[in-house]
Amino acid sequence: MRTAVLVSGGGTNLQALIDREAQGTLGKAELVGVISNNRGVYALERAKKAGIPAFVISPADFASRDDFHKALIAKLEELEAELIVLAGCLLTIPPEMIRRWPNRIINIHPALIPAFSGKGCYGIHVHEKALARGVKVSGATVHIVNENLDEGPILLQKAVEVHENDTPETLQRRIMEEAEWVILPEAVKMISEGQLQP
Ligand code: GRF
Repeated sequence: MRTAVLVSGGGTNLQALIDREAQGTLGKAELVGVISNNRGVYALERAKKAGIPAFVISPADFASRDDFHKALIAKLEELEAELIVLAGCLLTIPPEMIRRWPNRIINIHPALIPAFSGKGCYGIHVHEKALARGVKVSGATVHIVNENLDEGPILLQKAVEVHENDTPETLQRRIMEEAEWVILPEAVKMISEGQLQP
């Protein structure tokens, strides 16, 4: 299953996918391309080191948001993507892209949706909110991307204990290591083998 990965930053979730493919444990998924909406991010280096075609498609390079969306979709068509994985991607996915790949765009969210999800809940802010609320357990969620932010069908979740002395950074790191980097590749593997339907 031709799998394209959309990134915006460090690419640790992309790296987890790369490592699983190298170990032969990503099922029938084949990483065919990485697209970043930001230049110079380390995720692009990770792709290059793994020999995966890497592209920057940045809104700043287009006269309108619509032109940017068209270019992004055109690149995904060129890659003949069958599955699109948002891995640390901070883009809002346009409805036309969701309609083109129904139930084939998945996202990793660093909390147990519906907790700490939706507007303003991304990256480190998710963990700031979780600690401010005083939850004893957090974790990560892989879900189908639909037109409502973080509200698509949930595919996999994994819980992670919150420690007394956690900071947003230590909690984020533990959730990435113990949850995100486990369930995202697992979801990709299962979808590629037809084992996971929303
Ligand atoms: C992480 O907090 C992840 O949960 C979220 O984006 C952040 C960076 O991910 N999806 P990555 O290291 O770029 O994969």
